[in-house]
Amino acid sequence: MEISYKELDEISKIIYRTSGLYLQKRDKDKLLKYIEKKLAEGRFRSLEHFKKELEHSKSVLYEVFDVLTINETFFFRHKSHFNILEKEILPKLFKEKQSVKLWSAACSTGEEPYSMAITALEVMEKLKIKKTVRVIANDISQKVLKVAQEGVYGSYAIRFVPPDILKKYFIKQPDGKYKISPKVKSMVRFMHLSLTDEAGMKRIGNDIDVVFCRNVLIYFDIESRKKALSLIHYNMNKGAYLFLGPAESARGLIKGLKIVLFPGAIVYCKE
Ligand SMILES: C[S@@+](CC[C@H](N)C(=O)[O-])C[C@H]1O[C@@H](n2cnc3c(N)ncnc32)[C@H](O)[C@@H]1O
Repeated sequence: MEISYKELDEISKIIYRTSGLYLQKRDKDKLLKYIEKKLAEGRFRSLEHFKKELEHSKSVLYEVFDVLTINETFFFRHKSHFNILEKEILPKLFKEKQSVKLWSAACSTGEEPYSMAITALEVMEKLKIKKTVRVIANDISQKVLKVAQEGVYGSYAIRFVPPDILKKYFIKQPDGKYKISPKVKSMVRFMHLSLTDEAGMKRIGNDIDVVFCRNVLIYFDIESRKKALSLIHYNMNKGAYLFLGPAESARGLIKGLKIVLFPGAIVYCKE
């Protein structure tokens, strides 16, 4: 069965409307392969049937998100960000507050929020203090969230984890993989949520002190970037920090964020 570009565009629009994901040529190719495979398997009777299901059945939409999203991540990715969190931001926050809330927005398979939790535990140990630290983590893909909940990682994910941290916060499994310790895991709460879902984003709570929203806005068009950034901004406390990926910027997209220069990174702070 031939699927025309016009039809593919229509389907892309449905996905864009619900996720903010702006499909490039390579994504459309991926989508085309997925639809062709599902039609061949008899999962959908026709293209019309697929489109109807996509609009009305969450499970089909979620399956498409799983196919289209790029989930590359690893522990302590962009090390300079974790250095800033450890040396500059958390000590300051711990001085000011008893309870601190961090957010990994678009957390993929969990390495980012777990790295944030480990960093907080290390800072508390170093300063000999006890604070309540909660890490909220969300993603649009159910597939990655399942991996994140399991918290078991192979050599690629942990390749930049220092040996002492690996020993302290991971449990080596019989198959050589590493499972995140229950202590770290208990600090993180995962949520299945799109960054462009206005009602859903309110569930994060508007008391966030630090947000990592890295390497996801690059997949959005300008309008979705603006929308996601304004929903993130709404959830941030005054003075809270926002980290974006090195190829991303909030400049010109949203008001109410000022740039703070830290060693090795630009960070945004809510005015
Ligand atoms: C490249 S990963 C980045 C993971 C992590 N933040 C990092 O920098 O290592 C991008 C993630 O964004 C997620 N994503 C894409 N669109 C999203 C949306 N609208 N809402 C929430 N997550 C989304 C994808 O499922 C994927 O897991």
